Amino acid sequence: MVRRPQSQSAALAHQMDHDDVRDAYRRWAPVYDFTFGKVSTAGRRHAVELINSSNGKVLEVGVGTGLSLPEYKSHLEITGIDLAPEMLQKAHERIRSERLTNIAGLHEMDAGDLQFPDASFDTVVAMYVITVVPEPEKVMRELARVCKPGGQVMLVNHFSQEEGVRGWVERKMAPFADLVGWHSVFEMSRVMGCDNLKLVERKSLRPWGIFTMMRFRKQADVVHHPLAAE
Ligand SMILES: C[S@@+](CC[C@H](N)C(=O)[O-])C[C@H]1O[C@@H](n2cnc3c(N)ncnc32)[C@H](O)[C@@H]1O
Repeated sequence: MVRRPQSQSAALAHQMDHDDVRDAYRRWAPVYDFTFGKVSTAGRRHAVELINSSNGKVLEVGVGTGLSLPEYKSHLEITGIDLAPEMLQKAHERIRSERLTNIAGLHEMDAGDLQFPDASFDTVVAMYVITVVPEPEKVMRELARVCKPGGQVMLVNHFSQEEGVRGWVERKMAPFADLVGWHSVFEMSRVMGCDNLKLVERKSLRPWGIFTMMRFRKQADVVHHPLAAE
């Protein structure tokens, strides 16, 4: 039998399904803003600042409790989706309490099966989400699909290291993925597989470079002319 090579993250990760994710984030929802939500502030701010200098419609995938929502400038129209109803409930409360007027809608939806037509958004952003989903490659294809040609797809995430103490800790944490709600071992190569997404920027972020911002440009569709090969 031929054994297929497997990425380190695919080999180590306990496979979280959607019920595991919903379970984990039902537990996280009441404390999220004061725990992981705090540690991850710098990355979220950095991404939203970049988005604020663009125009049009933004899709935030895995919007969670909506910590980013008040940071978007009012000329942008924001749509959010998330799998966990308890996280979305917090986001709805934030929209009401902060009287945000540029939120087009929040939807309970799977990032791997987005219910939007192709090329619906100018910017598609997923912050601290891609290591949580069971099939990151499929989610990347969905982010690319709903982004307009010429638009941007942005990720903020932790990507794992093979060496050093950090790599060792990440590997030890891997079996607890469904308890904490994300995979500690996750290589950057897993988000690089979409031919129509060109990486235009990559930046290490505070605190201590644990998180990375990646910005891709969606390429225009390639039209194959029937006579081109002759
Ligand atoms: C670590 S939280 C990040 C939340 C938010 N982006 C932030 O920056 O605070 C991950 C979020 O992704 C959501 N999520 C996980 N898997 C998902 C999926 N397949 N589709 C949509 N959302 C998902 C979780 O419910 C959770 O709200």
